Amino acid sequence: MKKKKLEELRETCLGCQKCELGKTRTNIVFSDGNPKTAKAILIGEAPGANEDATGTPFVGRAGKLLNEFLEKAGISRSEDLYVINTVKCRPPENRVPTDSEKKSCEEYLLKQIEIINPSVMIFCGATALKSFYPEKLAISKIRGEVLELEIGGKKRKCIPIFHPSYLLRQHSIVEGSPRDLMLKDLKKIKELIEG
Ligand code: URA
Repeated sequence: MKKKKLEELRETCLGCQKCELGKTRTNIVFSDGNPKTAKAILIGEAPGANEDATGTPFVGRAGKLLNEFLEKAGISRSEDLYVINTVKCRPPENRVPTDSEKKSCEEYLLKQIEIINPSVMIFCGATALKSFYPEKLAISKIRGEVLELEIGGKKRKCIPIFHPSYLLRQHSIVEGSPRDLMLKDLKKIKELIEG
């Protein structure tokens, strides 16, 4: 059932030209993960060059770093998560998607959330956070907090975390460093999805 609904939605996205990003994309980047077993949805910012080339989210350097963190926290990307972005098409030069591009894509995103229906959502980075939580709070201030938000007609536990692109530039692993906090946040998420 979920599979069929998602396949129909993917077909719609394949023909989408609602915003300018449709003109320059190579592939739509629909999702990764297992819709049947996913316990949480992880939302990133937007596809980059590697994602545009392959049609899969988080496969470049940032994605590889994300995978390392997930593994350390004991979260299986392929079983526990359904991975998407705020937009399905790559913004040229990897710029941040505009509000209007995000708005165009929102209906697809919300449908995916409704179909997967997770009790936990992970906002990976400031762009994903801003899409659902309009109050202007820096990701560094709010990361790791469990927010109860109504999304797709249901209250869900939403946790903002750092984006792995930021962590590519932060190498320290001392207590309280961004990498240390990322691991702690993911371990907390692991407990939430198991609870
Ligand atoms: N960064 C993102 O936010 N999403 C991707 O899919 C890849 C990199």
